Amino acid sequence: MLEKINNLKAQIEGLTASNAAEVEALRIKYLSKKGEVSLLFNDFRNVPVEQKKAMGQALNELKNIATDKINALRDAVESVDTAVEGLDLSRTASAIKLGTRHPLSLVRNEIVSIFSRLGFSIADGPEIEDDWHVFSSMNFPADHPARDMQDTFFIQRDPADVLLRTHTSSVQSRVMEKTQPPIRIICPGRVYRNEAISARAHCFFHQVEALYVDRNVSFADLKQTLLYFAQEMFGPATQIRLRPSYFPFTEPSAEMDISCNLCGGKGCSFCKHTGWVEILGCGMVDPNVLEACGIDSKEFTGFALGMGVERITNLKYQVKDLRMFSENDTRFLDEFQSAH
Ligand code: DAH
Repeated sequence: MLEKINNLKAQIEGLTASNAAEVEALRIKYLSKKGEVSLLFNDFRNVPVEQKKAMGQALNELKNIATDKINALRDAVESVDTAVEGLDLSRTASAIKLGTRHPLSLVRNEIVSIFSRLGFSIADGPEIEDDWHVFSSMNFPADHPARDMQDTFFIQRDPADVLLRTHTSSVQSRVMEKTQPPIRIICPGRVYRNEAISARAHCFFHQVEALYVDRNVSFADLKQTLLYFAQEMFGPATQIRLRPSYFPFTEPSAEMDISCNLCGGKGCSFCKHTGWVEILGCGMVDPNVLEACGIDSKEFTGFALGMGVERITNLKYQVKDLRMFSENDTRFLDEFQSAH
């Protein structure tokens, strides 16, 4: 019997297993009720009395060795199952690549933040609009070319026009028809025009509209607001100039240029050697617009302005091709990693 015990001991010490199923098979083979070790305990009955003590010790030792061995094998295969070989869990993790804000979002946020310092709050309107909010309430004559299919994306013509807004000025009438002055709002948003896509034009782009309506709002207020905006956006040395212009919804209307921020006004290829670049349209809200939106034009006056976010972004970051803004090429977007 001692020989049997020693043989089994040697056998068990040499056991190997490569997965949990093999370990279980070994446990059954040696340690289950009918396992080899257990069978030896059955034989113990027949051992002569004088050998019982020594044999009992040897048997118990064998059982312990077998139990420890099986446990050790189980631990070993379990850690192999869960860990990937060669993985060093104490290593520092590699950095997760951070996303960037889109350059148009950076610039839009900056515009909004400048105007919010002047007390303007954000207003919103739908991109799918009707004729009234985009054109009629904004004093566009019935035959104005902007109402043409060539400029505007129509979704439906009958029974009433449904279209993609061509400018954020539509938010002006959305707000004015619901609110009485004082109104001081800024409306960032996407607009659509039926243009062939090229480096200089796209069928959608982004605008920010501002509207201020109250008693005694004057052109001087508009001009001061514009100067503040230009200097906050492009630096304190920035100068502005206003050129007379025409928009149906403002009277008088103007376009604002800023001194070219690339050459400081000396003249370069970007400003076509004029020293000035155009950045927005503005004017005093036409009394017809106020009346159309239910505001008494004898009591209240207002100014409005609208700018293209792509245009401002180009001025700040010299993006040469408008299409880059909507391609989501991470090589382009990564350039703005450190911008905010
Ligand atoms: N809506 C004009 C456009 O799309 C921009 C604009 C010009 C907005 C003058 C205004 C404004 O509010 O007063 O080109």
